[in-house]
Order: sequence, then structure tokens, then C-alpha cells
Amino acid sequence: MDKPLVAIRNLQLTAATSRGEARILKGIDLDIPRRCILGIVGESGSGKSSLANAIIRLLPGNTTKLSGEIVLDGVNLVGLDEVGMSELRGTRIAMVFQDPITALNPLFSVERHLVDVIRRHTPRISRADAATHALHALEAVGIADPKLRLASHPSDLSGGMRQRVLIAMALLAEPDLLIADEPTTALDATIEAQIVALLGELRNKLSGSILFISHNLGLVWRLCERTCVMYGGTVVELGDTEAIAAAPAHPYTRALMACMIDNEASDAPLVFIPGEVPDPVAPVEGCIFAPRCGYVVDECLRVTPPLRDLDASRRVACHRAGEIA
Ligand SMILES: Nc1ncnc2c1ncn2[C@@H]1O[C@H](COP(=O)(O)OP(=O)(O)O)[C@@H](O)[C@H]1O
Ligand SMILES: [Mg+2]
Repeated sequence: MDKPLVAIRNLQLTAATSRGEARILKGIDLDIPRRCILGIVGESGSGKSSLANAIIRLLPGNTTKLSGEIVLDGVNLVGLDEVGMSELRGTRIAMVFQDPITALNPLFSVERHLVDVIRRHTPRISRADAATHALHALEAVGIADPKLRLASHPSDLSGGMRQRVLIAMALLAEPDLLIADEPTTALDATIEAQIVALLGELRNKLSGSILFISHNLGLVWRLCERTCVMYGGTVVELGDTEAIAAAPAHPYTRALMACMIDNEASDAPLVFIPGEVPDPVAPVEGCIFAPRCGYVVDECLRVTPPLRDLDASRRVACHRAGEIA
């Protein structure tokens, strides 16, 4: 494989809470390949947003430690100060969030939002050129009647249109990495499908990569060529989506998959994995998934399984990977 766009090594994130120190990311190892859509999937509370926020360094104030490596083009972002990070944010790494309403200023038109970003990147651009650029940006994300929409305010737009505007803003800088954290969770199913289709189209036009984060395995598999399954602040399985979908190796991936398949059957009740995601404040002994795992053996309770190669393109953190089928 080519050198990855981003190489994450032993990334750890802790935060102070009233109940003690929370270990939110427990040593993440993950490559984001170039020109790729990588999906990150896991139940709510798995640490997906924390990973995204650590990459772009938009971390809450109670964060006590970020350590390890996030290497982008030879530079470890973990070692950069806030000035260095703010130069990358919005230019080389851009982010689209779950809630498209709070991310836009209700007082400003769509055109003003876009032109502000364009000006930041090209300060000497003429008004007319900036306006044309803004129009093209809206066309690129498939907004109907883009001329009319430039004059609209956020409150005039549907949730799906707002998310398209945010994606357009994020793409203006032609970032190397676009992070989309649950970008469709606030939208209804039809609009969700449209936004996922848009991201799929963009993949072919972008020179950068997309990190697509979702709790919905079906969406990740529809869109992403690589899949990273997270659980309890760790990576439990990583590989080509097709290979994982054909033969999930980690019991947690299997459980997610079983929920997805059962939930697709229209008249069945919603299926969840029994038990709860781990509390990041609680100490971990052995495998973090062991308390919910149907394949658990003695070793799982004592020894934390490392993320190891199952084959050339798959990594799994399970003592019994390859053995259970
Ligand atoms: N700033 C914080 N302080 C304490 N705990 C946090 C903080 N941020 C996240 N967490 C906890 O870390 C875990 C992972 O959260 P998060 O990254 O939001 O997961 P996800 O995006 O997968 O739902 C959760 O248990 C959450 O409560
Ligand atoms: Mg999240």
C-alpha cells in the first residue's frame, strides 16, 4: 500500500471527570489511506467523535492528555501548538458535524457563509469572482436552484440542504482530509440516502480522503471502501469493507452486523447488542468486549488482545479471531 495520508499510532486521550480520569482513547492505531473513504463505526460511546476531535484538535476543556502520533505528511499533529493546528484546520483538515443548524450563523446568507471561507483562503479575490466561486460550490454539492439558494438564510433551508451547504464550505479549501461525524444522523432516511450518495460522488472528484463516522454499519458499508470498527476507545477490527462484510472476524463486528440484518427486516422489533458500552472511567482488565462477548474464554478475562494482522489487509483485536467461524 502507498504511504497513508494520516498514520495514527498509540493515540491516547484522557479527560478529568468528577468520578476520576476517563480513558477515552486507549491507544488507537489506524492508517487513513490516500484517496479513500474510511468508515468508523461503533455504538454510541465508542470514542468515534473523540478520535475525530483529536485529529482536528477540537477537544473539550477537561481533556488532560493527548499523546501518541497523528502523522500527516511527516508532521506529528499531536506535537503542534494551537497556532500550528489552526493553520491546518479548515484548510488541510475540514470537518462536517452532525447538527447542521448550530454550525451555521442564522443571521448570514448562504452566500456570505461561502464567501467568508473563500476570502479566508484567497484574500485578494474580487467580489464577483468570490460570488461565482460560491455558486459553483453549491452546484458541486447538488443544491437545486443554487442561485436562489445563495440568497437564502439557514432558517430557509431544510436539514438536508444545510448539510449540503456545510459540505460545500468544508470542500472550498480542498482539504486533504474531510471528516464527517454522523453527518446524516439528524436527517430523515430519504435525505440521509441523498447525502450519502453525495459523499460517494465526491469521493471520485476529491483528491483527498474522507473519514466517515457513523453508528450505522449499513451506511458505512454502503459508502466506505475501508471500515474501522471501534469499541470502548479501541480499534477492534480494521480492513477492506468487502472482506469484513463477507467474514467479520471480531465478535463485536458480528454483533453489529447481526443487529443491522435483523433491523432491516421490516416488522421485527429493533435489535440491540445486550449489555452496555464500557464506562471510560472504569479500569479494564483483559479484553474490553469480554463482558458482552459470546465467545469469551479464560484468556479474554486476563489478557488484553492486541490489534494484530489477520491477513495482509485485516487487523483484529481478538484472541480467538480466525478460530471462531
Ligand atoms: N470531555 C469528556 N469528558 C469525559 N468523558 C468524555 C468526554 N468526551 C467523551 N467522553 C466519553 O468518552 C466516551 C466516548 O465518547 P464519544 O467519543 O463521544 O463516542 P461516540 O462518538 O462513539 O459516541 C463516552 O463514554 C463519553 O461519555
Ligand atoms: Mg459521536
